[in-house]
Amino acid sequence: MAQLAASIITHDDEFKRQVAQMLRACGVPVGIVEGARVATEGPGPDLVVVDIRGDVSTGMAAIERLRVTQPSVAIFAIAATAEPDLILQAMRAGANEFFPWVPGGASQASRAMEDSFQGAVRRAGARREAATAGARQPCVTHVFLGAKGGAGTTTVSVNCAVELARLTKRPTAIIDLKPCLGEVALFLGVRPRFTVLDAIENLHRLDRDFLRELMARHKSGLDILAASEQFDRPNAQDASAIEELLRVLSRLYDYIVIDAGNMINACAVSALYAADTIFLVTNPDVPSIRNAQRLVDRVRQLGAGSERVKILLNRVSDQHLIAPKQIETALGYGIHHAFPSDYRTVSTALNSGVPLALTNHSEISAQFGSFTRHLLGLQDDAKPEPEKRKAFLGIL
Ligand SMILES: Nc1ncnc2c1ncn2[C@@H]1O[C@H](COP(=O)(O)OP(=O)(O)O)[C@@H](O)[C@H]1O
Ligand SMILES: [Mg+2]
Repeated sequence: MAQLAASIITHDDEFKRQVAQMLRACGVPVGIVEGARVATEGPGPDLVVVDIRGDVSTGMAAIERLRVTQPSVAIFAIAATAEPDLILQAMRAGANEFFPWVPGGASQASRAMEDSFQGAVRRAGARREAATAGARQPCVTHVFLGAKGGAGTTTVSVNCAVELARLTKRPTAIIDLKPCLGEVALFLGVRPRFTVLDAIENLHRLDRDFLRELMARHKSGLDILAASEQFDRPNAQDASAIEELLRVLSRLYDYIVIDAGNMINACAVSALYAADTIFLVTNPDVPSIRNAQRLVDRVRQLGAGSERVKILLNRVSDQHLIAPKQIETALGYGIHHAFPSDYRTVSTALNSGVPLALTNHSEISAQFGSFTRHLLGLQDDAKPEPEKRKAFLGIL
């Protein structure tokens, strides 16, 4: 699904934080757009929340201005009280929805307000889907998050991205969001000239041509935005710029794959909010499962849509004592896909910089193919050697 871009007009930071949280938790991917950060390419936000609790006349003027400059934007007015006069005034100025602000979170009135607000956001999302249907296939964003370092997040995300580009022949990009020394470009044997930092530091000029300069190209057709080379960036201060970058990319690409590393930092959170699917990559060992449990809980807390989480079990072998059923019970999710352990094949591909999807006929490359076909809703016609497949399925 395409992301809904929302912006919040207020002078109250706490209000902004609470409204952003309500927007995020409504079940559709929502990107928060900071007014100052809007990139050059493409339209403005789809939805604007205007705070009219304090200075009513300034709030009304902001609504009127928005309605004139962006006729199709959904405007939500939030007022201190639900006075009929105020509702009428807001509607006349051009607001589509009106909500009395009920702070406090836990009270029944506050929950009722939150429910009706979120219902209105979902309706705005559905209306936008309907309006853009047929114009262009909405971009699909897959985020890969590792339960711990070495789980195979980069391996799985790189091979999935190459397969997506190869199978669809549609514009596909992989973004390495790991702060410093991410390995996506290395895994693909590509030497990048620019990184994620160049993109977020030039947001104001981030149009199609400039982005094309920043991306490195893999021979499969996949575009790569390589990881920053600075140890402490991107960091929390860069999170909203990352969010805006992902929004711009979603207008240029049909498929976006994000290697989010193995920590839920502020930038990974931006990616999680933009995700259609969050693939949690874990191994069948106790530390990985324990971390995966924590990450699943954190995603739920963030309201990033725990229904979007899918578990990938990597490095499955008959040496492991934890049965897949136990893992599913511990995580509260079924295993979406499993990849066998095959160090020799994976590390040969890594050392040569040629992804498995392009070279190999092993069981693990068949699994990457089958995983990606399934993502695309294509029939799985991968036919690995029957003996190897039988052995792998036997483990599961
Ligand atoms: N299915 C697998 N079988 C065997 N080794 C694997 C597998 N997947 C990844 N590896 C190896 O594990 C190491 C870490 O993989 P990587 O993708 O860099 O993990 P992460 O990005 O989660 O840190 C690499 O040396 C890689 O070759
Ligand atoms: Mg990695």
